[in-house]
Amino acid sequence: MKTKAFDNFPDEYDIWFDKEGLIYKLELKVIKEMVPEKGKGIEIGSGTGRFSIPLGIRIGVEPSLPMGNIAAQKGLDVIGGIAESLPLKSESFDFVLFNTVICFFDSPEMAFLESYRILRPGGLVLIGFIDRESYLGNIYNEEKEESKFFKDADFYSISEISRILTESGYGSLEYAQTLIFDIKSNILSEKISSGYGKGSYVVIKGYKKIV
Ligand SMILES: C[S@@+](CC[C@H](N)C(=O)[O-])C[C@H]1O[C@@H](n2cnc3c(N)ncnc32)[C@H](O)[C@@H]1O
Repeated sequence: MKTKAFDNFPDEYDIWFDKEGLIYKLELKVIKEMVPEKGKGIEIGSGTGRFSIPLGIRIGVEPSLPMGNIAAQKGLDVIGGIAESLPLKSESFDFVLFNTVICFFDSPEMAFLESYRILRPGGLVLIGFIDRESYLGNIYNEEKEESKFFKDADFYSISEISRILTESGYGSLEYAQTLIFDIKSNILSEKISSGYGKGSYVVIKGYKKIV
């Protein structure tokens, strides 16, 4: 379990989003465009609730107590646990969000099988992450040893995550992207678009089969 930095520096993690306001705004916006308006949702690896609270998600699963405590103060119902073994009933949610968390899993395969189990038929999963094969993904991967939070992270490409999702049973995959940098000027555009390949941050949506 890779939670040490989050256990030790939960406030620093939470405050990072205030400093990087544009990145936060764009990531939140792209998830908002893909999240269902209705239904019972849950965020797995909900951290300090930075995303679940503004998205209207009421329940989170989080292994780090200090991170979970911050989220609970903001009103999130936080359940202690890990993505690879969810302490939750089968077929009890309409959607599951994983945001900037798959890179910390011991097994994304187990995590996606578990999210599949807790979803109702026709329910959906949303995975927000930095694409390893993108502008920011390359920088994060190359400089991860120097990062307090990402030192132990395993970054993934879109094709790797799409494959694991498909093998876990998810279908009808959809993609949206943001954090599109102009490489020459290093300027961040405020664009959001469908697909992948241009943006450093991608959200993949996948559906659990109805039968
Ligand atoms: C980068 S933070 C993201 C938090 C939140 N999703 C957000 O976007 O603000 C990663 C979180 O994943 C949690 N985490 C690490 N390993 C996990 C696991 N196996 N299952 C669930 N959460 C995990 C960490 O404790 C931390 O709170």
